[in-house]
Amino acid sequence: MSDSSATHATAELEDGSKRDFIFLATGATAAAGAAAIGWPLVAQMGKAADTLAAGSIEIDLSKVAQGQQLKMLWRGKPIFVRHRTPAEIAEAESVNVADIPDPQADEERLVADINGNLRPEFLVMVGVCTHFGCVPVGEAGDFDGWYCPCHGSHYDTSGRIRKGPAPTNMAIPPYSFVSENVIKVG
Ligand code: FES
Repeated sequence: MSDSSATHATAELEDGSKRDFIFLATGATAAAGAAAIGWPLVAQMGKAADTLAAGSIEIDLSKVAQGQQLKMLWRGKPIFVRHRTPAEIAEAESVNVADIPDPQADEERLVADINGNLRPEFLVMVGVCTHFGCVPVGEAGDFDGWYCPCHGSHYDTSGRIRKGPAPTNMAIPPYSFVSENVIKVG
């Protein structure tokens, strides 16, 4: 089964508000421009796209409301920033990690903020299925996380693979907090 929504990343919030992501990215590098024009076009731009998507991007987490997911492009890959609900966090933390294909506790997938605290409400991932690289859709699948319709991989609310052919969890990109609510990816 294929679904074009699974392979096209767009720089938008997924609640349909279509707010321009530029308001969410502060001090973004050229990658912001790449994200604004969308994945399909960037994918066609070859080497120029690589250049555009290089560097780092800064994202203001305070602009991503609970229950929303922001997608943007970084180094040619979609980055998901999900502001998880309390229910999603509880679900992610309740998993017995020994029982899942790629054992990893939810907190291992988080990065401490400038005060040394984990912020479980914000999950930042490379939004690429670890099977053959499609872009999974959010709030879908058997585990309420992400679903990759290309070959049927189900990820949970921590982005961990739970069912289907994908071998590993969705990756966490290198990122850090640069202020209370702003992260820098890359
Ligand atoms: S690429 Fe996602 S399941 Fe195959």
